[in-house]
This record gives sequence, structure tokens and C-alpha cells, in this order.
Amino acid sequence: MSTIEAEVDSLRAEALEELARADSEAEQDVWRAQWLGRKDGRLTLHLRSLKDAPPEQRAAFGKSLNDLKATLEGELEARREAARAAAIAALSTEAVLDVTLPGRPQSLGRLHPVTQTMNDCIDAFADMGFQVFEGPEVEWARYNFDAVRIPEDHPARDMWDTIWIDTLIDGERNMLLRTHTSPNQIRVMEQSDPPMRVIVPGKCYRQEATDATHEWMLTQIEGLAVDEGVRMSDLKGALYAFARRLFGDERQIIFHHSYFPFVEPGVEMAIDCFLCRADGSNCRTCHGTGWIEILGAGMVHPEIIENAGYDSSRYTGFAFGVGIERVAMLRWGIEDIRHFYQNDLRFLRQF
Ligand code: DAH
Repeated sequence: MSTIEAEVDSLRAEALEELARADSEAEQDVWRAQWLGRKDGRLTLHLRSLKDAPPEQRAAFGKSLNDLKATLEGELEARREAARAAAIAALSTEAVLDVTLPGRPQSLGRLHPVTQTMNDCIDAFADMGFQVFEGPEVEWARYNFDAVRIPEDHPARDMWDTIWIDTLIDGERNMLLRTHTSPNQIRVMEQSDPPMRVIVPGKCYRQEATDATHEWMLTQIEGLAVDEGVRMSDLKGALYAFARRLFGDERQIIFHHSYFPFVEPGVEMAIDCFLCRADGSNCRTCHGTGWIEILGAGMVHPEIIENAGYDSSRYTGFAFGVGIERVAMLRWGIEDIRHFYQNDLRFLRQF
């Protein structure tokens, strides 16, 4: 072997051995600069020194060096490829990111069962031609009580244990959280003239010890219809149609006589208890009566019609106030009203 070949062979061996140790792309870059760098790569320097070689050896030496250069460039490219492939393989085996996995499903929210029931009740009355009106939750005592014929010191005020607003206005404590939606009967009559058919949905508040059928916050829908010739049978017809739509034909509906200062006569409508099926004995949900009251109603008191500025010998009206939580309990067989506002997702996800 000529000295030239021997020299090129040892250069090749050395260069390839170093390249074999350069695993990362960064190490390979360093190797490239050391061996093939334009300015002072070792192979480049050898090529540049060709001109000093004895003229008879120059051609053969040049060819060997150029062959070596091609070999080294080829090997470098192969190592680069291998390094890239290894990096990709590492990514997928470490499962850092598997783009083929299905996405995580977004959990969908849903309407609260009381909201769902509220919407269904509104639809039922809206289909009978009632318009929807809204009133304030913080209400004047004047509307909540006096205007609906519950003057101060009237024993009927005890029916609504009130959460008062502490602030005194004109030296008096006269604002409260409305205890029912009935003040909106007055608000509606102030703003419009008969014939009218409106419903007013909303939250109400009571200072009350809670039990299976009583909560301190509750949802009602107030209803009011005033026109010439409105009669008790119209009230009954509307409420029957409402109950049949929400509960179906199977449930029993009963009207009891009742007293509310703003109606005369007054009634309560109840549905047979879903737990004891109107049997009543020892039933906690219906308090042993067999029936669950869902609304109060009656013929609007003539004094209220007159106070609104309408002639009570010409106009009559009916009114009702539905307890939405009660309706929801009956629909789904929920035995305790307190479930609704405890925010327990295990309960709420069922509806
Ligand atoms: N406001 C009554 C309550 O909360 C319910 C009620 C009874 C509303 C009779 C009415 C009615 O409109 O006529 O207990």
C-alpha cells in the first residue's frame, strides 16, 4: 500500500469513528465543522495541501481525498437521518403526544330541573294566550302586602314570614324580598287595561324553617286574567288544562276551598301524592294528607279591581300562584324540596 493510500485510510478510519460517536444533530454539526469545515476542516486542509505534493502523486492523492470527502458527506447524511428517525420514535413511544387519540369530550351543562319545569309551565300558559311579564325581587311592602289587601297588623301577614331589607326609607322599614309573585298583579294592572291575560314567573323568599315541602327560596308563576264576564269556571278550566299538560291524564286533581285576602272565593289546587297515591298514612312528603298543594287561586277581589281604576261591576278576573318546585317534585317523584338547592350534581344530573 502506498503511503498516500495508507494516509487516506487512517484519515477515513478516524473520521468515521468520531462520526459514530456523534449521536445528536448538535454533535454531528461539530463533527462536520471539524472535518469538512470550509476554512479549517481537516479534510479541507488536506485538499488544500495537494499543491505541495510531489507532482507524480498529486492526481491519485487528489482522487482519494475527493472520494473520502464524498464518503464522509454520505455517512453524515445517513447519521442525520438515523438521528431524526430515532427522535420521532422516542416521541411516540414516550406517548408525549398521540395525535390519533380521540379528544376528551366536553361535559355539557343542562338546565336546572326547576328551570325546566318553569319553562314547561310558561309554555303551557303561553299556549293559552297568557303574556309573560316580570317584576322586581326586592319589593315595596306596599305592593307585597297592602295593595293585595294584607294591611299591617292583619293576621294574614303571618302567612308570609318575611325577609325585610334593613334600610329605612322615609324612616320606615318598607322594603322586603317579595314573599310571593302576587304584587305583580297590581304592577300589571297599573300598566295596562283589560282585557289582560298575563303570567309573572320569579323567585320568592320566606323567613321559614325548611322541611320536605318548604324552602326559604321558592319559585312561583303568578297568573292574572281580567275581562268582562270572567268566571270561576274559566279559572278551573285554565288550571285543569295546565295540570293535564304537565302531569298527564292519570293524576288526580282536587280543588279545596281556601282563603287568600286578594281573592274571593279562594281555592287551592292539589295533585295526588306521588309517594302514597293519596293514601296519606304516615307520608312525610304530603304530611299525611294524601295531596300535594301546587297552587293558590281565586277570583280577584272586587276591591283590587276598583283600586286598579276598573269598574268592578263590569270587569271580573281570576288569579293564581303556582309553586314551581312542587310541580317539579310531583313530575319526577322528588320527595324532598331541599334537594333542588343543594347543588349536588348526583341529583341534578338526573334531569
Ligand atoms: N300568593 C299566594 C302564596 O304565595 C299564592 C296565591 C294564592 C296566588 C291565590 C294567587 C291567588 O294569585 O289568587 O301563597
